[in-house]
Amino acid sequence: MKKVPVSSQSTPTLTIRGVALYQRLLDRSAQTAMVEDLRRVVADAPLFRPETPRGQAMSVRMTSTGSVGWVSDRRGYRYQETHPKGMAWPPIPESVLAIWDAVAGTERQADTCLINYYDGTARMGMHQDRDEADFDQPVVSISLGDDALFRIGNLTRGGKTESVWLSSGDVLVMGGEARLVYHGIDRIRAGSSDLLASGGRINLTLRVARA
Ligand code: SIN
Ligand code: FE2
Repeated sequence: MKKVPVSSQSTPTLTIRGVALYQRLLDRSAQTAMVEDLRRVVADAPLFRPETPRGQAMSVRMTSTGSVGWVSDRRGYRYQETHPKGMAWPPIPESVLAIWDAVAGTERQADTCLINYYDGTARMGMHQDRDEADFDQPVVSISLGDDALFRIGNLTRGGKTESVWLSSGDVLVMGGEARLVYHGIDRIRAGSSDLLASGGRINLTLRVARA
């Protein structure tokens, strides 16, 4: 697998509340190559629709890559070594790791990458990413496909928020003071991108889950 070339841009195009945004870091050919890699992943580790610990079906469908993957069900949120169907998670594609290397600014390599698929009506409520062992390691998020309205809140629930539209090829880093900021996806602009043949949006979140 070859590494996807990313532009040498090493400074964010926009920073909101410490969340760094690298808009269009991936050009169209890099996006297409990454989607091809993800198709192979999903063939081996199918998307599933998780339930919240309270038993509500999430509107996104997801799967993972890496040595561990994030799951949610009645037993709670956690990282585990296997897909709910029992197989090991596929390795994180090189094309995806290359983005971590370009923007994470840490010596450590990501050990997990969550793949979220949003159809035109999916959303994600405000939450913190806090199931990882070491909050000194950032979260790197990659957007592919339809635009999404990303909301950024505070380090505690509630308060004023700011929103930004994420487009295909955008990369976002939540690190440092912004590592535990509340965030969510309010809505998807269905049909805004033709990257994915059947529409929708893929979001990848790379993380170091284990100590
Ligand atoms: C997430 O917070 O897990 C997903 C964010 C996104 O879809 O951009
Ligand atoms: Fe998150």
